[in-house]
Amino acid sequence: MGEMSWSGRRGVALPARAMSDPGVTGRFGGYGGRYVPESLIPACHEIEAAFREAWEDPEFRNRLDTLLTVYAGRPTPLTPAWRLSQELGITLLLKREDLTHTGSHKINNVVGQALLAHRMGKRRLLAETGAGQHGVATATAAALLGLEATVFMGERDIERQELNVLRMNVLGAEVVPVTTGSRTLKDACNEAMRHWVSSVDDSYYCIGTVMGPHPYPWMVREFQRVIGDEARVQCAAALPVGVPDYVVACIGGGSNAAGTFAGFVDTTARLVGVEAEGGAAATFGRAGVLHGFRSLVLQDDDGQVKEAHSIAAGLDYPGIGPEHAHLRDGGRARYVTVNDDEVVRALRCLARTEGILPALESSHALAWVIRAAKSGEIPAGSTVMMTLSGRGDKDIASIREML
Ligand SMILES: Cc1ncc(COP(=O)(O)O)c(C=O)c1O
Repeated sequence: MGEMSWSGRRGVALPARAMSDPGVTGRFGGYGGRYVPESLIPACHEIEAAFREAWEDPEFRNRLDTLLTVYAGRPTPLTPAWRLSQELGITLLLKREDLTHTGSHKINNVVGQALLAHRMGKRRLLAETGAGQHGVATATAAALLGLEATVFMGERDIERQELNVLRMNVLGAEVVPVTTGSRTLKDACNEAMRHWVSSVDDSYYCIGTVMGPHPYPWMVREFQRVIGDEARVQCAAALPVGVPDYVVACIGGGSNAAGTFAGFVDTTARLVGVEAEGGAAATFGRAGVLHGFRSLVLQDDDGQVKEAHSIAAGLDYPGIGPEHAHLRDGGRARYVTVNDDEVVRALRCLARTEGILPALESSHALAWVIRAAKSGEIPAGSTVMMTLSGRGDKDIASIREML
């Protein structure tokens, strides 16, 4: 990957202010938009109008900031990975989203959307979940604000993320098993959307990542921007030159990466999104429409959506958020893949060198950092800021034999 690909000169123009408001069409270059049944168009308009109004309202922003601070535990620390940095010959800083209430970055977005739903007078939150982290965050925010929560989850993910299913139950959410298709995240999204169509008057669909019809990809990125904004300030204090050489995050739909990149897109930092090899839509996907938006999607020769496979339930998704597709085309961000074995090794490595147990999803980002530092792709002496999107307690049972 040469300099060209980092500098946004691959022929596709990025907006003057990259990662800004995509306007009423919700387009990021040729991606994004709103591809939903007629009956959902008014709901999307209503959410966009409500979000624009709330985002400009100091009272809403103040309420959100307060909850993120006194409830969700922000700001999260930026922790140097002391021993691993030494081993790899780089400076690795970890943005600790694993330390938030409920244990992942998903809470940032959910608190924002739940407040919005409450403001719009909705009674119930609907959500899809893969790893269960978004489901747990939704169940949590619903309890906090006195809303009901219904969470759609593939049967296969229910089996491998049992702990999170129990947490959702205890929090009072209804977990609906999805038995269609591969019984994972894509199918849970299908089912949640179908349900939304039939209950749009009193239910708010709280999407867990930067996907779905406009305004979701933009709105979710804005709710996750807090990761990148905090990390930018923390890097300025921690690093001699203020900005890291590399900013790295794992990608399922792409919300923790979008929030992280938003804080650094206007700097010299190289932005790297790390996908699961079996769910690598930015790397192997082609343009197509999925779950209400146009983006890069894993497809077969007939244009049928292919099943994604990843050891991490949260990365088992055949698409990628539309803004990432645009950042990739423009060359401002680079997308790479790692395989399941590297991921489990990375999880064990961080646990043993730093005493931090990362989620399998977050371990993807780390696996690439380890590989790239060892191969010299990340030159010795570089500074790397990596978002550690969540904690790994939920994964231990399912990877017992591999540890
Ligand atoms: C801990 C963790 N990290 C990352 C992800 C991937 O989601 P996203 O790409 O939207 O950040 C998930 C999804 O469930 C997750 O639970």
